[in-house]
Amino acid sequence: MNIAIVTGASSGMGAECVKQITKVYDRLDEIWIIARRMERLCGLSLYSDKVKIRPIPIDITNEGHMEAFNECMKDAKPKIRMLVNAAGMGIIGRFDEEDLLDEIGMVDLNCRALTAFTKMCLPFMQKNSRIINFASSAAFLPQPDFAVYAASKAYVLSFSRALNKELKNRGIYVTAVCPGPVATDFFKIAEKHHKMPGYKKLALVRPEAVVEKAFCDSLKKRDVSVYSFTMNSLRFFTKVLPHSLFLYFWKEGKQ
Ligand SMILES: NC(=O)c1ccc[n+]([C@@H]2O[C@H](COP(=O)([O-])OP(=O)(O)OC[C@H]3O[C@@H](n4cnc5c(N)ncnc54)[C@H](OP(=O)(O)O)[C@@H]3O)[C@@H](O)[C@H]2O)c1
Repeated sequence: MNIAIVTGASSGMGAECVKQITKVYDRLDEIWIIARRMERLCGLSLYSDKVKIRPIPIDITNEGHMEAFNECMKDAKPKIRMLVNAAGMGIIGRFDEEDLLDEIGMVDLNCRALTAFTKMCLPFMQKNSRIINFASSAAFLPQPDFAVYAASKAYVLSFSRALNKELKNRGIYVTAVCPGPVATDFFKIAEKHHKMPGYKKLALVRPEAVVEKAFCDSLKKRDVSVYSFTMNSLRFFTKVLPHSLFLYFWKEGKQ
């Protein structure tokens, strides 16, 4: 049975991946969609008449849920053609002011769960399978007031690129997607205490475009996918200029 798995499928870019995935793989038997909110997943499962969509309501930071999911995979023995790790969260605010559980929760979901999920799926992947990991343009440089989130996404970017190299001889390709701000429910949680700076809102893009580019880059076996001129420019300048310069101006800008 050929399947795709999408985590974070109940909203935003994960949900968009579910909608677009059959354009990339037309021979899927099932798409397994994962998130905590069952009602949202069920809404999405009515979306496609081409392929069966199986909603799996689990919390991927919960060890018991992950073990049960692993058992389910061992029973079904699927061939995973594509894994999309889109589940993630961010909270804007100073590290010394934000709640510890929120900060640790970000690391647990963005890093720990993504790593565990990838490890769990790999035995069921083979030549020409693909992994798409949602990192962020926040991975390109340290971000005061978004410190843990940016660091967690730097982990995803580094992990994905290294894994892509490791898995090349198995014919499995890994792409880290690094969008700037995208118009999704992400900000309902991210802006719980503090608003995103106005200049970032100028770079806001649509999830459809980010996902289309991500699938396109995955097919081209690219290890990094960056949508929009603004974010590609940010990536370029954060490579050629010292990060201390950005941090200096950030500090100056706040005073
Ligand atoms: N939006 C942006 O500006 C932006 C920019 C760069 C990168 N990203 C990254 O892109 C990815 C997708 O973000 P998005 O914008 O689509 O956000 P979103 O609309 O808030 O979606 C996040 C998804 O993660 C799921 N999720 C959260 N905690 C979970 C858990 N413990 N177990 C299982 N699923 C969980 C949520 O579903 P449930 O709540 O139903 O569990 C939801 O489906 C994230 O990794 C995010 O960090 C977003």
